[in-house]
Amino acid sequence: MAKKKAEGYLSAKESRQISKRNRKITDELEKKRKRKNVPESEYVTKMHDPKNAVEFDNLHTYFFTDTGTVKSVDGVSFEVPIGKTVGIVGESGCGKSVTSLSLMQLLQRPQGQIVEGEIRLNLGDKVYDIAKTPQEKMQNIRGNMVSMIFQEPMTSLNPVFRIGRQIEEVIELHDGEGKSKEDIKARTIELLEMVGIANSEGVYKMYPHELSGGMRQRVMIAIALACNPRIIIADEPTTALDVTIQAQILDLLRNLKDKINSSIMLITHDLGVIAEMADYIVVMYAGRVVEKGTAEEIFEHPSHPYTIGLMASKPVVGKKVDKLYSIPGKVPNPVDMPNYCYFKDRCEMCVGPCAGDYPPEISLSETHKVSCYRYCEEKGEK
Ligand SMILES: Nc1ncnc2c1ncn2[C@@H]1O[C@H](COP(=O)(O)OP(=O)(O)OP(=O)(O)O)[C@@H](O)[C@H]1O
Ligand SMILES: [Mg+2]
Repeated sequence: MAKKKAEGYLSAKESRQISKRNRKITDELEKKRKRKNVPESEYVTKMHDPKNAVEFDNLHTYFFTDTGTVKSVDGVSFEVPIGKTVGIVGESGCGKSVTSLSLMQLLQRPQGQIVEGEIRLNLGDKVYDIAKTPQEKMQNIRGNMVSMIFQEPMTSLNPVFRIGRQIEEVIELHDGEGKSKEDIKARTIELLEMVGIANSEGVYKMYPHELSGGMRQRVMIAIALACNPRIIIADEPTTALDVTIQAQILDLLRNLKDKINSSIMLITHDLGVIAEMADYIVVMYAGRVVEKGTAEEIFEHPSHPYTIGLMASKPVVGKKVDKLYSIPGKVPNPVDMPNYCYFKDRCEMCVGPCAGDYPPEISLSETHKVSCYRYCEEKGEK
Protein backbone atom coordinates (compact mmCIF):
# COMPACT_ATOMS: atom_id res chain seq x y z
CA MET A 1 0.00 0.00 0.00
CA ALA A 2 1.27 3.51 -0.80
CA LYS A 3 2.44 5.59 2.12
CA LYS A 4 -0.20 7.91 3.42
CA LYS A 5 0.39 11.55 4.24
CA ALA A 6 0.40 12.48 7.90
CA GLU A 7 -3.19 13.68 7.75
CA GLY A 8 -4.32 10.37 6.27
CA TYR A 9 -5.05 11.57 2.74
CA LEU A 10 -3.68 10.04 -0.43
CA SER A 11 -2.39 12.26 -3.21
CA ALA A 12 -3.82 11.79 -6.72
CA LYS A 13 -0.54 10.25 -7.77
CA GLU A 14 -0.56 7.73 -4.95
CA SER A 15 -4.16 6.86 -5.67
CA ARG A 16 -3.31 6.29 -9.34
CA GLN A 17 -0.44 4.04 -8.38
CA ILE A 18 -2.71 1.98 -6.15
CA SER A 19 -5.33 1.67 -8.92
CA LYS A 20 -2.72 0.52 -11.37
CA ARG A 21 -1.37 -2.10 -9.02
CA ASN A 22 -4.90 -3.24 -8.14
CA ARG A 23 -5.82 -3.60 -11.80
CA LYS A 24 -2.86 -5.84 -12.38
CA ILE A 25 -3.81 -8.12 -9.50
CA THR A 26 -7.54 -8.22 -10.25
CA ASP A 27 -7.06 -8.68 -14.01
CA GLU A 28 -5.01 -11.76 -13.35
CA LEU A 29 -7.52 -13.21 -10.89
CA GLU A 30 -10.43 -12.43 -13.24
CA LYS A 31 -8.71 -14.06 -16.18
CA LYS A 32 -8.33 -17.22 -14.15
CA ARG A 33 -11.94 -17.18 -13.05
CA LYS A 34 -13.41 -16.53 -16.48
CA ARG A 35 -11.66 -19.43 -18.24
CA LYS A 36 -13.97 -21.77 -20.12
CA ASN A 37 -13.99 -25.58 -19.88
CA VAL A 38 -11.89 -25.73 -16.75
CA PRO A 39 -11.26 -29.42 -15.92
CA GLU A 40 -13.23 -30.47 -12.87
CA SER A 41 -10.12 -31.86 -11.22
CA GLU A 42 -9.05 -28.25 -10.55
CA TYR A 43 -11.90 -27.52 -8.19
CA VAL A 44 -13.20 -30.89 -7.01
CA THR A 45 -11.91 -31.62 -3.54
CA LYS A 46 -12.77 -33.62 -0.41
CA MET A 47 -14.47 -32.61 2.82
CA HIS A 48 -12.35 -32.94 5.93
CA ASP A 49 -15.47 -34.26 7.63
CA PRO A 50 -18.28 -35.59 5.39
CA LYS A 51 -20.83 -34.62 8.08
CA ASN A 52 -20.25 -30.97 7.21
CA ALA A 53 -22.21 -29.08 4.59
CA VAL A 54 -19.59 -26.33 4.22
CA GLU A 55 -16.06 -25.91 5.48
CA PHE A 56 -14.46 -22.47 5.35
CA ASP A 57 -10.73 -22.99 5.55
CA ASN A 58 -8.37 -20.05 5.99
CA LEU A 59 -10.52 -17.86 3.73
CA HIS A 60 -9.07 -14.52 2.70
CA THR A 61 -11.38 -12.16 0.80
CA TYR A 62 -9.98 -8.76 -0.08
CA PHE A 63 -11.35 -5.66 -1.80
CA PHE A 64 -8.78 -3.89 -3.94
CA THR A 65 -9.98 -0.29 -3.65
CA ASP A 66 -8.34 2.97 -4.72
CA THR A 67 -7.47 3.80 -1.13
CA GLY A 68 -5.80 0.47 -0.47
CA THR A 69 -6.55 -3.21 0.05
CA VAL A 70 -9.44 -3.84 2.43
CA LYS A 71 -8.84 -7.17 4.13
CA SER A 72 -12.51 -7.81 4.85
CA VAL A 73 -12.04 -11.50 5.60
CA ASP A 74 -8.56 -12.37 6.74
CA GLY A 75 -8.11 -16.05 7.52
CA VAL A 76 -11.55 -17.30 8.51
CA SER A 77 -12.07 -21.01 9.27
CA PHE A 78 -15.24 -22.68 10.53
CA GLU A 79 -17.61 -25.48 9.58
CA VAL A 80 -21.34 -25.72 9.04
CA PRO A 81 -22.51 -29.29 9.88
CA ILE A 82 -25.38 -30.81 7.89
CA GLY A 83 -28.77 -30.11 9.45
CA LYS A 84 -27.41 -27.60 11.98
CA THR A 85 -27.67 -23.86 12.43
CA VAL A 86 -24.48 -21.85 12.78
CA GLY A 87 -24.86 -18.34 14.13
CA ILE A 88 -22.33 -15.72 13.08
CA VAL A 89 -22.05 -12.68 15.31
CA GLY A 90 -19.76 -9.69 15.35
CA GLU A 91 -19.64 -5.95 15.14
CA SER A 92 -20.79 -4.13 12.02
CA GLY A 93 -18.12 -4.32 9.32
CA CYS A 94 -16.35 -7.39 10.71
CA GLY A 95 -16.84 -9.38 7.48
CA LYS A 96 -19.96 -11.48 8.14
CA SER A 97 -21.68 -10.61 4.88
CA VAL A 98 -18.47 -10.82 2.87
CA THR A 99 -17.89 -14.36 4.20
CA SER A 100 -21.33 -15.47 3.05
CA LEU A 101 -21.10 -13.63 -0.27
CA SER A 102 -17.81 -15.45 -0.89
CA LEU A 103 -19.66 -18.76 -0.59
CA MET A 104 -22.18 -17.60 -3.20
CA GLN A 105 -19.47 -16.01 -5.40
CA LEU A 106 -21.51 -12.83 -5.26
CA LEU A 107 -18.69 -10.47 -4.33
CA GLN A 108 -18.60 -7.15 -6.06
CA ARG A 109 -16.08 -7.91 -8.78
CA PRO A 110 -13.50 -7.23 -10.02
CA GLN A 111 -12.35 -5.43 -6.86
CA GLY A 112 -13.70 -8.09 -4.47
CA GLN A 113 -11.67 -11.31 -4.73
CA ILE A 114 -10.99 -14.48 -2.79
CA VAL A 115 -7.21 -14.41 -2.68
CA GLU A 116 -6.46 -17.40 -0.49
CA GLY A 117 -8.06 -20.36 1.25
CA GLU A 118 -10.76 -22.89 0.45
CA ILE A 119 -14.53 -23.05 0.78
CA ARG A 120 -15.45 -26.71 0.54
CA LEU A 121 -19.09 -27.19 -0.39
CA ASN A 122 -20.60 -30.65 0.04
CA LEU A 123 -22.88 -31.33 -2.94
CA GLY A 124 -23.68 -34.87 -1.86
CA ASP A 125 -21.97 -36.84 -4.60
CA LYS A 126 -19.09 -34.36 -5.01
CA VAL A 127 -17.32 -31.59 -3.17
CA TYR A 128 -16.47 -28.28 -4.84
CA ASP A 129 -13.92 -25.77 -3.68
CA ILE A 130 -15.93 -22.60 -4.30
CA ALA A 131 -12.79 -20.46 -4.20
CA LYS A 132 -11.68 -22.15 -7.43
CA THR A 133 -15.00 -23.02 -9.07
CA PRO A 134 -15.39 -21.25 -12.42
CA GLN A 135 -18.30 -18.82 -12.60
CA GLU A 136 -20.21 -20.81 -15.22
CA LYS A 137 -20.72 -23.58 -12.66
CA MET A 138 -22.06 -21.22 -10.03
CA GLN A 139 -25.46 -20.63 -11.66
CA ASN A 140 -26.37 -24.19 -10.83
CA ILE A 141 -25.09 -24.00 -7.26
CA ARG A 142 -26.81 -20.74 -6.34
CA GLY A 143 -30.44 -21.43 -5.61
CA ASN A 144 -30.18 -25.20 -5.93
CA MET A 145 -27.50 -25.79 -3.33
CA VAL A 146 -27.03 -22.53 -1.48
CA SER A 147 -29.50 -19.71 -1.25
CA MET A 148 -29.51 -16.45 0.58
CA ILE A 149 -32.14 -14.42 2.37
CA PHE A 150 -31.08 -10.79 2.32
CA GLN A 151 -31.58 -8.23 5.00
CA GLU A 152 -33.81 -5.78 3.16
CA PRO A 153 -36.58 -7.47 1.18
CA MET A 154 -37.76 -4.28 -0.55
CA THR A 155 -34.41 -3.85 -2.29
CA SER A 156 -34.12 -7.54 -3.17
CA LEU A 157 -37.56 -7.95 -4.73
CA ASN A 158 -38.14 -6.38 -8.11
CA PRO A 159 -40.76 -3.61 -7.70
CA VAL A 160 -42.18 -3.91 -11.22
CA PHE A 161 -43.02 -7.62 -11.25
CA ARG A 162 -45.82 -9.40 -9.45
CA ILE A 163 -44.82 -11.65 -6.54
CA GLY A 164 -45.98 -14.82 -8.30
CA ARG A 165 -43.90 -14.06 -11.36
CA GLN A 166 -40.77 -13.49 -9.28
CA ILE A 167 -41.06 -16.83 -7.52
CA GLU A 168 -41.91 -18.65 -10.75
CA GLU A 169 -38.86 -17.24 -12.44
CA VAL A 170 -36.62 -18.80 -9.79
CA ILE A 171 -38.31 -22.19 -10.15
CA GLU A 172 -38.09 -22.03 -13.96
CA LEU A 173 -34.41 -21.14 -13.85
CA HIS A 174 -33.27 -23.72 -11.36
CA ASP A 175 -35.80 -26.49 -11.22
CA GLY A 176 -38.05 -25.98 -14.22
CA GLU A 177 -37.07 -28.89 -16.42
CA GLY A 178 -40.06 -30.92 -17.52
CA LYS A 179 -42.49 -28.77 -15.56
CA SER A 180 -45.55 -27.23 -17.19
CA LYS A 181 -46.72 -23.67 -16.48
CA GLU A 182 -49.48 -25.04 -14.24
CA ASP A 183 -47.01 -27.15 -12.25
CA ILE A 184 -44.83 -24.12 -11.65
CA LYS A 185 -47.78 -22.02 -10.55
CA ALA A 186 -48.97 -24.77 -8.21
CA ARG A 187 -45.50 -24.97 -6.67
CA THR A 188 -45.44 -21.17 -6.25
CA ILE A 189 -48.77 -21.18 -4.41
CA GLU A 190 -47.54 -24.09 -2.29
CA LEU A 191 -44.41 -22.14 -1.35
CA LEU A 192 -46.44 -19.06 -0.41
CA GLU A 193 -48.60 -21.22 1.83
CA MET A 194 -45.58 -22.93 3.30
CA VAL A 195 -44.19 -19.59 4.52
CA GLY A 196 -47.49 -18.80 6.18
CA ILE A 197 -49.13 -16.43 3.72
CA ALA A 198 -52.86 -17.06 4.10
CA ASN A 199 -54.13 -15.27 1.03
CA SER A 200 -51.72 -17.03 -1.32
CA GLU A 201 -53.80 -16.63 -4.51
CA GLY A 202 -54.19 -12.90 -3.78
CA VAL A 203 -50.53 -12.32 -2.93
CA TYR A 204 -49.55 -14.21 -6.08
CA LYS A 205 -50.99 -11.31 -8.10
CA MET A 206 -49.68 -8.47 -5.95
CA TYR A 207 -46.65 -6.21 -6.35
CA PRO A 208 -44.01 -5.96 -3.59
CA HIS A 209 -45.18 -2.50 -2.46
CA GLU A 210 -48.63 -3.92 -1.70
CA LEU A 211 -47.24 -6.22 1.00
CA SER A 212 -46.19 -5.50 4.55
CA GLY A 213 -42.55 -5.84 5.58
CA GLY A 214 -43.13 -9.19 7.26
CA MET A 215 -44.94 -10.54 4.20
CA ARG A 216 -42.15 -9.37 1.91
CA GLN A 217 -39.62 -11.15 4.10
CA ARG A 218 -41.75 -14.30 3.87
CA VAL A 219 -41.76 -13.99 0.09
CA MET A 220 -37.96 -13.70 0.19
CA ILE A 221 -37.83 -16.87 2.25
CA ALA A 222 -40.18 -18.61 -0.22
CA ILE A 223 -37.82 -17.64 -3.05
CA ALA A 224 -34.79 -18.85 -1.10
CA LEU A 225 -36.47 -22.18 -0.40
CA ALA A 226 -37.92 -22.69 -3.88
CA CYS A 227 -35.34 -25.31 -4.82
CA ASN A 228 -34.80 -27.03 -1.45
CA PRO A 229 -31.27 -25.72 -0.96
CA ARG A 230 -28.79 -27.59 1.23
CA ILE A 231 -27.60 -24.39 2.80
CA ILE A 232 -29.64 -21.33 3.61
CA ILE A 233 -27.73 -18.17 4.39
CA ALA A 234 -29.90 -15.77 6.34
CA ASP A 235 -28.19 -12.37 6.59
CA GLU A 236 -30.02 -10.43 9.30
CA PRO A 237 -33.35 -11.95 8.20
CA THR A 238 -35.39 -10.27 10.89
CA THR A 239 -33.69 -6.97 11.64
CA ALA A 240 -36.33 -4.94 9.81
CA LEU A 241 -39.25 -6.68 11.54
CA ASP A 242 -41.08 -6.22 14.81
CA VAL A 243 -40.59 -8.76 17.56
CA THR A 244 -43.74 -10.85 17.06
CA ILE A 245 -43.20 -11.20 13.32
CA GLN A 246 -39.54 -11.90 14.04
CA ALA A 247 -40.49 -14.84 16.25
CA GLN A 248 -42.81 -16.19 13.55
CA ILE A 249 -40.18 -15.89 10.83
CA LEU A 250 -37.59 -17.63 13.00
CA ASP A 251 -40.04 -20.44 13.77
CA LEU A 252 -40.74 -20.75 10.11
CA LEU A 253 -37.06 -20.98 9.23
CA ARG A 254 -36.48 -23.61 11.88
CA ASN A 255 -39.41 -25.76 10.76
CA LEU A 256 -38.51 -25.51 7.12
CA LYS A 257 -34.92 -26.38 7.86
CA ASP A 258 -35.98 -29.56 9.62
CA LYS A 259 -38.37 -30.42 6.81
CA ILE A 260 -35.71 -30.35 4.11
CA ASN A 261 -32.75 -31.17 6.43
CA SER A 262 -30.65 -28.25 5.31
CA SER A 263 -28.16 -26.17 7.25
CA ILE A 264 -28.55 -22.52 8.14
CA MET A 265 -25.88 -19.87 8.39
CA LEU A 266 -27.55 -17.21 10.47
CA ILE A 267 -25.94 -13.80 10.53
CA THR A 268 -27.22 -11.38 13.12
CA HIS A 269 -26.33 -8.72 15.67
CA ASP A 270 -29.06 -10.04 17.91
CA LEU A 271 -27.78 -12.41 20.59
CA GLY A 272 -31.36 -13.29 21.53
CA VAL A 273 -31.97 -14.62 18.04
CA ILE A 274 -28.72 -16.57 18.17
CA ALA A 275 -29.57 -18.08 21.56
CA GLU A 276 -32.88 -19.27 20.22
CA MET A 277 -31.72 -20.65 16.89
CA ALA A 278 -28.04 -21.59 16.81
CA ASP A 279 -26.39 -24.94 17.54
CA TYR A 280 -22.92 -23.48 16.98
CA ILE A 281 -21.66 -19.91 17.22
CA VAL A 282 -18.85 -18.18 15.39
CA VAL A 283 -17.73 -14.83 16.80
CA MET A 284 -16.00 -12.61 14.27
CA TYR A 285 -13.95 -9.52 14.87
CA ALA A 286 -12.29 -7.38 12.18
CA GLY A 287 -12.24 -10.09 9.52
CA ARG A 288 -11.14 -12.93 11.78
CA VAL A 289 -12.83 -15.59 13.88
CA VAL A 290 -11.87 -14.79 17.47
CA GLU A 291 -13.92 -17.53 19.12
CA LYS A 292 -16.14 -20.43 18.07
CA GLY A 293 -17.93 -23.24 19.82
CA THR A 294 -21.31 -24.76 20.55
CA ALA A 295 -24.03 -22.30 21.60
CA GLU A 296 -23.79 -23.57 25.15
CA GLU A 297 -20.02 -23.08 25.33
CA ILE A 298 -20.21 -19.54 24.02
CA PHE A 299 -23.12 -18.48 26.22
CA GLU A 300 -21.99 -20.29 29.38
CA HIS A 301 -18.23 -19.79 29.04
CA PRO A 302 -17.49 -16.84 26.76
CA SER A 303 -13.70 -16.70 26.68
CA HIS A 304 -12.43 -14.05 24.30
CA PRO A 305 -12.58 -10.58 25.88
CA TYR A 306 -14.67 -9.43 22.91
CA THR A 307 -17.24 -12.21 23.42
CA ILE A 308 -17.28 -11.49 27.15
CA GLY A 309 -17.97 -7.82 26.35
CA LEU A 310 -20.66 -8.81 23.86
CA MET A 311 -22.42 -10.97 26.45
CA ALA A 312 -22.13 -8.23 29.08
CA SER A 313 -23.72 -5.68 26.73
CA LYS A 314 -26.85 -7.80 26.33
CA PRO A 315 -29.82 -6.74 28.46
CA VAL A 316 -31.23 -9.46 30.72
CA VAL A 317 -34.92 -9.52 31.65
CA GLY A 318 -35.41 -9.15 35.39
CA LYS A 319 -31.90 -7.85 36.05
CA LYS A 320 -31.75 -4.15 36.81
CA VAL A 321 -28.60 -2.26 35.82
CA ASP A 322 -27.89 1.49 35.76
CA LYS A 323 -26.13 1.37 32.45
CA LEU A 324 -25.60 -1.42 29.95
CA TYR A 325 -21.99 -2.33 29.30
CA SER A 326 -20.48 -1.01 26.09
CA ILE A 327 -17.12 -2.09 24.70
CA PRO A 328 -14.80 0.95 24.62
CA GLY A 329 -13.07 2.10 21.43
CA LYS A 330 -13.76 1.01 17.88
CA VAL A 331 -12.77 -1.57 15.26
CA PRO A 332 -9.39 -0.88 13.57
CA ASN A 333 -9.34 0.40 9.99
CA PRO A 334 -9.49 -2.64 7.68
CA VAL A 335 -7.06 -0.99 5.23
CA ASP A 336 -4.34 -0.76 7.83
CA MET A 337 -4.70 -3.77 10.10
CA PRO A 338 -2.12 -3.98 12.88
CA ASN A 339 -0.20 -7.27 13.06
CA TYR A 340 -0.96 -7.77 16.75
CA CYS A 341 -4.32 -8.87 18.17
CA TYR A 342 -6.94 -6.60 16.55
CA PHE A 343 -8.83 -6.27 19.78
CA LYS A 344 -5.83 -5.25 21.89
CA ASP A 345 -6.49 -1.50 21.84
CA ARG A 346 -9.98 -2.02 23.25
CA CYS A 347 -9.19 -4.87 25.58
CA GLU A 348 -9.43 -4.52 29.34
CA MET A 349 -7.81 -7.89 30.01
CA CYS A 350 -4.48 -7.60 28.18
CA VAL A 351 -1.60 -9.83 29.27
CA GLY A 352 2.14 -9.63 28.48
CA PRO A 353 2.41 -11.22 25.00
CA CYS A 354 -0.58 -9.27 23.58
CA ALA A 355 1.78 -6.70 22.06
CA GLY A 356 3.36 -9.46 19.94
CA ASP A 357 2.05 -11.25 16.85
CA TYR A 358 -1.59 -12.15 16.28
CA PRO A 359 -2.51 -14.82 18.88
CA PRO A 360 -2.71 -18.49 17.83
CA GLU A 361 -5.95 -20.46 18.06
CA ILE A 362 -6.23 -22.30 21.37
CA SER A 363 -8.54 -25.30 21.87
CA LEU A 364 -10.50 -25.08 25.10
CA SER A 365 -12.44 -28.21 24.14
CA GLU A 366 -13.02 -30.34 21.03
CA THR A 367 -15.39 -27.68 19.67
CA HIS A 368 -14.48 -24.54 21.64
CA LYS A 369 -11.62 -22.51 20.12
CA VAL A 370 -10.39 -19.06 21.01
CA SER A 371 -7.63 -16.78 19.69
CA CYS A 372 -6.36 -14.99 22.76
CA TYR A 373 -3.11 -14.92 24.75
CA ARG A 374 -4.95 -15.20 28.04
CA TYR A 375 -5.31 -18.94 27.42
CA CYS A 376 -1.84 -19.61 26.03
CA GLU A 377 -0.17 -19.95 29.40
CA GLU A 378 -2.81 -22.29 30.74
CA LYS A 379 -2.31 -24.52 27.77
CA GLY A 380 1.47 -24.19 28.00
CA GLU A 381 1.81 -22.69 24.52
CA LYS A 382 4.12 -19.80 23.66
N1 LIG B 1 -17.82 -3.70 -2.29
C1 LIG B 1 -16.96 -3.36 -1.32
N2 LIG B 1 -15.89 -2.56 -1.58
C2 LIG B 1 -15.01 -2.24 -0.62
N3 LIG B 1 -15.10 -2.65 0.65
C3 LIG B 1 -16.14 -3.43 0.99
C4 LIG B 1 -17.12 -3.83 0.02
N4 LIG B 1 -18.05 -4.62 0.64
C5 LIG B 1 -17.65 -4.69 1.92
N5 LIG B 1 -16.51 -4.00 2.14
C6 LIG B 1 -15.79 -3.86 3.42
O1 LIG B 1 -15.62 -5.13 4.00
C7 LIG B 1 -15.76 -5.06 5.41
C8 LIG B 1 -16.73 -6.12 5.87
O2 LIG B 1 -18.02 -5.83 5.39
P1 LIG B 1 -19.30 -6.73 5.68
O3 LIG B 1 -20.38 -6.22 4.81
O4 LIG B 1 -18.92 -8.16 5.56
O5 LIG B 1 -19.61 -6.41 7.19
P2 LIG B 1 -20.72 -7.08 8.12
O6 LIG B 1 -19.98 -7.83 9.18
O7 LIG B 1 -21.68 -7.83 7.30
O8 LIG B 1 -21.39 -5.80 8.78
P3 LIG B 1 -22.94 -5.51 9.09
O9 LIG B 1 -23.20 -6.20 10.38
O10 LIG B 1 -22.98 -4.03 9.25
O11 LIG B 1 -23.76 -6.02 7.96
C9 LIG B 1 -16.16 -3.65 5.74
O12 LIG B 1 -15.03 -2.97 6.22
C10 LIG B 1 -16.60 -3.08 4.42
O13 LIG B 1 -16.27 -1.72 4.35
MG1 LIG C 1 -23.70 -7.49 6.71
